[in-house]
Formats: sequence, structure tokens, C-alpha cells
Amino acid sequence: MDKKQNPLSHKSQDDLSRDGLAIYDSYIASEYLSIKHTSYFHAYEKLLSPYTGREITFVEVGVFNGGSLFMWRNFFGPKARIIGVEFNPDAKHWESEGFEIHIGDQSDPLFWESFFAAVGSIDVLLDDGGHSNDQQITTVAKSAPHVNDGGLVIVEDTHTSYMAQFGNPSKYSFMNYAFDVVDSVNNRFPTIQSSKNPLAQWVSSVEFLESIVCFHVNRGECFVSTPTTNYGATRDAVDFRHHGTPGQGFGSLRRKLFVKFNNLEPNSRVRRVATALFSSVLYVQNRLSFQRQKKYFG
Ligand SMILES: C[S@@+](CC[C@H](N)C(=O)[O-])C[C@H]1O[C@@H](n2cnc3c(N)ncnc32)[C@H](O)[C@@H]1O
Repeated sequence: MDKKQNPLSHKSQDDLSRDGLAIYDSYIASEYLSIKHTSYFHAYEKLLSPYTGREITFVEVGVFNGGSLFMWRNFFGPKARIIGVEFNPDAKHWESEGFEIHIGDQSDPLFWESFFAAVGSIDVLLDDGGHSNDQQITTVAKSAPHVNDGGLVIVEDTHTSYMAQFGNPSKYSFMNYAFDVVDSVNNRFPTIQSSKNPLAQWVSSVEFLESIVCFHVNRGECFVSTPTTNYGATRDAVDFRHHGTPGQGFGSLRRKLFVKFNNLEPNSRVRRVATALFSSVLYVQNRLSFQRQKKYFG
């Protein structure tokens, strides 16, 4: 099949209604307008079902016509504390329905400081606000430290990271921020020198869904990883990791060169030539490897 041809079909609202999702039923049951993409309901159900029926604090950025506030109440049940964050002061209207509403700009770090000082720690924050890089990044960076262990920060409409009207593509797009957090989570592995995003103190893992990124908060799972052993019996098995790989010839040549290279006098002419040769072999081996990998990319 041509890589450029999309093999997927559309899912209609009728199809969705047959999928038996509690979140979709909650959406349809909401009296007020909400507009959500078809793909979001499966993601919400998967990510948020563990919180239903519980005494959680749930925050949604972006209130608009109030429809999603009622969807969340229908879905989580009466024990949930549901808080809306909105720039438009008219959203205060929904306080009369028992929701807590905070008016402010999600891209303002000071707003988040006063918000968490008033509200305390939370379990889940879902960002459906203005969808710009600045708004999404500030919201995640300022809220993650206030999320309880086992909680989530979910950002939706992350396709804006690919859209020109949102100033993208950009090195500082929201998606690149999310990848930076992933690099920092991997930075917890001792010998890796990658980005050091402070979120890796609180975020144990990052989940990517279509147009949605979910940061899982769990401080207990944020630590430097070290090797372990079960002290079982060994058969002194040989590690075959390079055997059978195309380009293995170069791999074994490289290993032979490396052994010889280590025996050479430091700073000697022979060692300098050997270093150059070693680097060239490595370069050729990497180029061959890139060619094999490239065909699996979109
Ligand atoms: C997509 S609508 C929210 C829809 C709602 N969640 C629903 O599903 O029915 C986005 C909302 O975010 C609000 N918004 C936009 N920029 C904002 C900002 N910087 N801070 C807070 N809210 C913002 C808009 O006023 C708008 O009401």
C-alpha cells in the first residue's frame, strides 16, 4: 500500500453510540452544548474510568457553554468535586449548578499559583482551553506538582502542535515539550545524558493518544534506576546480540579493532590512525543501519 494513503475509515456518532462507552452516554445526557472529537471518548473512558464513583478533585480548563462540566458530573458521579477554569468571566454562571469556577488565563503562571493556593492538590486536570503552545505548556508545568500520586494531567487537541495558525511547527511546540518530558523520564536511567525537565520529578510516564497527551503523576515511581539480579544459576550463555544482524561483518570488525585499539600506546601515531579507522568503520556501519531503519518510518 502507498504510505501516503490513509488506510483508516471514519467513525460516526452512531458508531460511537454502539460502542457502549459510559463517557459517551454522559456526554449525550448533558443538557448543555459540548463539542468533542469522536476519538476522544475511547481515550477518556480508558484514562478516567478508574476515577468514577470516587471522591476526586477534577479540573477542566475551558468551560465554554458548560456542556462538559455536566458530562464529567454524569460520568464521575456525585462524590466528585468538579472545578472549571475559564478566561471568560461569564462562566461564573455555572457556580449556581454546584461547580467551582475560577476565572483566569491558563498561560499565566501567577494564575496557577493563586489557583492551587485556593483549591489545594487535585487528582486530574484536563486541558481543553485555548490550545496554544504557551497555554498548554504553562498549564502542564504549573499543575503537575499539585497533582496527587496516581493522578493525571491530560492535554487534548494536541494536533495544534502541527498547525500553522498556532505558530507551528516550532521547536517549542507543545508536542516537543511532551517529548522533552519523555527524554527527561529516560534521563533517570543513570548513564543517559538527555534533557532535565523538572517534570520528571513528578511524572512517572507519558501516554500518547490521538490528539491527546496524558502525563501520569507518581512520585514513588520517579527514581534513578539501577541493575538488579535474582541470583539465579548461570549457564554462562553467550550474548548473541550482534549475531544474525545484517552488517554483522562490520560489527565483528569493529569489535576486533576495538580490542586492538585498546592495547595501543596512548597518543601514538598508530593509535591516531587506528582511531580514524575505527570512527570510519563506525560511520559506515551506522549509515547502513539508518538505511535499514528508514523504511519503517512514515
Ligand atoms: C474548546 S472550548 C471548551 C469546551 C468545553 N470544554 C466543552 O467541551 O464543552 C475552549 C474554552 O477555553 C477558553 N479559553 C481560551 N483561552 C483561555 C485561556 N488563556 N485561559 C483560560 N481559558 C481559556 C475559551 O474561552 C473557551 O471557553
